[in-house]
Amino acid sequence: MASLPPGPRESPTRQIARWTRQPTVFLESVQREFGDVFTLRFPGYPPLVVISRPDDVKAVFTAASTVVEQGPFPPFMRPLLGDQSLFFLEGVPHQRERKLLMPAFHGERMLSHADTIRRITRAAVERCPRNQPFPLASIVRDISLDVILQVVFGIGDAGRLHALHRLLAGQSEQARRTRNVSSLLTTIAMLLVPGPTLDSLYRWSGRGLDGSGRLDVSGLFPWRTAVRLQASMDQLLAEEIRRLDDEALENRDDILATMAQAIDEDGARMSPAHLRDEMVTFLVAGHETSATGLAWYFDLVLRRPDVLARLRTEIDQAGGPARVTPQQLQQLPWLDATLRETLRLRPVVPQPARRLLRAMPLNQWILPAGTVVLPSIYLAHRRPETYAAPETFEPQRFLEQHFGPNEFFAFGGGNRRCIGMSFAMFEMKMIIATLLELNLSHAGPPAGVTLRAITMAPDTGVPVVIGG
Ligand code: HEM
Repeated sequence: MASLPPGPRESPTRQIARWTRQPTVFLESVQREFGDVFTLRFPGYPPLVVISRPDDVKAVFTAASTVVEQGPFPPFMRPLLGDQSLFFLEGVPHQRERKLLMPAFHGERMLSHADTIRRITRAAVERCPRNQPFPLASIVRDISLDVILQVVFGIGDAGRLHALHRLLAGQSEQARRTRNVSSLLTTIAMLLVPGPTLDSLYRWSGRGLDGSGRLDVSGLFPWRTAVRLQASMDQLLAEEIRRLDDEALENRDDILATMAQAIDEDGARMSPAHLRDEMVTFLVAGHETSATGLAWYFDLVLRRPDVLARLRTEIDQAGGPARVTPQQLQQLPWLDATLRETLRLRPVVPQPARRLLRAMPLNQWILPAGTVVLPSIYLAHRRPETYAAPETFEPQRFLEQHFGPNEFFAFGGGNRRCIGMSFAMFEMKMIIATLLELNLSHAGPPAGVTLRAITMAPDTGVPVVIGG
């Protein structure tokens, strides 16, 4: 008979309030009370079963696509990303799409973007003050946005770059403001508004590649500005897609051009609407995530002179931050260990989510169909059985021990593991090495954890100073 693990008895509204306010404190306190497997309840959601033991995580990550599917997603995700986004594909179409997209994110093609990433990073720090504190978190956000625009979308022209950068930076500023004003209310509203209703309102409001200007009811909604911004973004992306017809694609090495040339098993190319959906997917999945990883990196590393000194020595021995090649950078063990340890201690994404399509046995329980299982990256990365002194930032552990895919899974797991993982690791290493050309020091207290869009982010701007 179907059964669920125990969990807090307080109301779903109170549970989501605690999660939104202090996600990590909430998770840890529930785990202390109920053990490694527990059930949370949020308004408008099916039961959420949180797991973190490697065997349980493995069972969920390796379950067949007839047993689990990706999700659920907040209702605003589908109209924003589009039906053909990798996030919403399942089974064979999902695996086909990954095969089609994968080459763009790996190998020589990926390494060829090193100079662009270095140039973007240098240009961003040029604009930073010297000898006075500034928030590094917003600088790395700008850098990672420009990396997406130039490396993923292939936009080289300064005017078009500026227009999209302003628009998208504005969009996340809007998200931030909404969060700040009423983060709890927004979260609850997003969870409560039934997906199809919101979906149809978005569609009425006339977004889309054709810009068909249908009745605009977005003003009835608190999302008014967001909907308008999305329409402008779609228009700019449509121009980039149209431009593909005018250019010699074989001379371009960006990810959009690679996707546009890809041919699937039936000999077909991706349609403009399909390209648009994947562009927004990479933007949403790859912008805040890499930026947040970098902000955490410097929050942790700049407060550990021993770790920083060893990093500088390693990079100097490879030719110095200005000259180290992308191939060398990929091979530096201490840089790799410090980045992994950052993603262990401060995972950017709190947990992937899987919905059960049919009942699934898990330990002594039989989880009913419809249950959502959350492999908690945060809790799994803090298991004392796996990680000695789990609360300490200790990169050395990654040099001494190998952690399996169900023990360390900052990028998720199974056949849905982050498709941008290698690219994100490379991008972050490139940006870190370039920032180490400067004499950076931390200028604030250690950051705490706050929820920000889809990430667990520092609750400060990570203030730093560039010394002379
Ligand atoms: C530090 C940086 C990043 C982190 C921590 C991260 C983490 C994750 C996680 C946890 C998932 C869910 C995996 C699962 O459900 O098992 C995911 C999926 C995904 N990520 Fe990332 N990600 C990062 C950067 C990127 C970048 C740079 C891109 C692309 C430019 C990207 C594109 C995607 C896509 C498309 C998916 C969906 C994969 C699928 O459903 O098959 N990510 N990522």
